[in-house]
Amino acid sequence: MNLEVIILAAGQGTRMKSTLPKVLHPVAGRPMLEHVVNTAEQLNPIAVHVVVGHGAQQVQEALAGYALNWVQQEQQLGTGHAVLQAMPAVADDSVVLVVYGDVPLISATTLSSLVDAAHVAPALLTANLVDPDGYGRILRDESGALCGVIEHKDATALQRAIGEINTGVLAAPAADFKDYLPRVGNSNSQNEYYLPDILSLAVADGKLIASCEAESELEILGVNDRVQLSQVEREFQRRLGHQLLREGVSVADPNRLDIRGALHCGKDVRIDVNAVFEGEVTLGDGVSIGPNCVLSDVTVADGTTIHAMSHLQQAQVGADCNVGPYARLRPGTVLAAGARIGNFVETKKANIGAGSKVNHLAYIGDCDMGAGVNIGAGTITCNYDGANKYQTTIGDGVFVGSNSTLVAPLQIAGQGFVGAGSTVTKAIDEGELAVSRARQRNIQGWQRPTKNKD
Ligand code: UD1
Ligand code: CA
Repeated sequence: MNLEVIILAAGQGTRMKSTLPKVLHPVAGRPMLEHVVNTAEQLNPIAVHVVVGHGAQQVQEALAGYALNWVQQEQQLGTGHAVLQAMPAVADDSVVLVVYGDVPLISATTLSSLVDAAHVAPALLTANLVDPDGYGRILRDESGALCGVIEHKDATALQRAIGEINTGVLAAPAADFKDYLPRVGNSNSQNEYYLPDILSLAVADGKLIASCEAESELEILGVNDRVQLSQVEREFQRRLGHQLLREGVSVADPNRLDIRGALHCGKDVRIDVNAVFEGEVTLGDGVSIGPNCVLSDVTVADGTTIHAMSHLQQAQVGADCNVGPYARLRPGTVLAAGARIGNFVETKKANIGAGSKVNHLAYIGDCDMGAGVNIGAGTITCNYDGANKYQTTIGDGVFVGSNSTLVAPLQIAGQGFVGAGSTVTKAIDEGELAVSRARQRNIQGWQRPTKNKD
């Protein structure tokens, strides 16, 4: 039987106190709705319908890369009304799974067993909670058969004592939705069309409702406010951390790791505490990431160590490099094998050749640097004249003494040498020494200043 998924995402999310639609709030760096879409796609549905209302346009733009059928629900008249809006696009012979855009931890395994149970009659995902407050409660008859759901607001004190709740996730043959949904009314305390009301209609028709229990409470945790958002985020990160550990990555503490995107790791990678990975990050075999590093859209080749407190953005780091501590690699930085970038060094649009060293307190921007270069402490490539940026080219084996300023555009040919403290404005030819600093004078017999008398 073909599967179609309907994701409900029309609600405002008032308690988020945000201008951003709730389902776009990020979990692990991506809109929470995107996680639900990814999970839905794992079930190989023939269609995924997303019901949108509040911030519909923004939501559609944020997920423009996915093949989704967008369904508008102008007014949020309840979950039953929301699902009904999607029905015209659903094939009569499909099985339909309803999930929420604000429940991002739900697993494909759980959903798939629910779908399996829903081929002839509705099936509901339930959970048993110590604190069921706020949820719809599951009603069962004397034989234990599920006969309906009563919303918290409509429930009696006795019904509120029931710990078995409706997670909201439900699957049923399309025919059941099409049959029962139009018959659901709104005479309840919220004057809403409740989706779970199709269950009592199905039972009245003699159908047996299946129920599956969620694997964990966290899996069904819905995000209504930022406290729940932070709980979902931590759980998501814990899972990613444990997955890395199982894949053979040494994660110092899975509770102090943040992956906001995709992290690909080779063998024997070590990640110390408080590392943040954003976008696409690839770490080769034996790479070590020190504490408190941030890497966004970075590749690091085998055997390289990124020391503590380093910030790398859109950079490519070669094999066996040493970076940091306290290094800043800005976009367009490419380090060849064995390069060394030390503390308080900033690089941008810079090719650093094999084995070259920029070890201390330097700025290297718009620079093409050969192999085996040594850049002294405090060296600055002056790439900007206040209007335009210019390039500095440094050949193989060049030595630049400390505290030099290299005024671009500038070419230093191979084996060139710059004396410490120089301001270099002219090209240096192969093997030449450039020194451009005031000559030292030593004055004998000079008098030290003495304190004025008042
Ligand atoms: C719903 C269930 C309740 C269950 C709980 C689990 C109903 C009537 N109640 O209650 O039994 O225990 O979920 O969390 O279904 N939405 C729309 N359009 C609407 C209304 C809602 O798209 O008109 C979306 C919301 O954006 C949200 C989801 O549906 O993602 C659930 O809606 P919400 O109002 O939060 O339902 P609950 O009151 O939590
Ligand atoms: Ca809710």
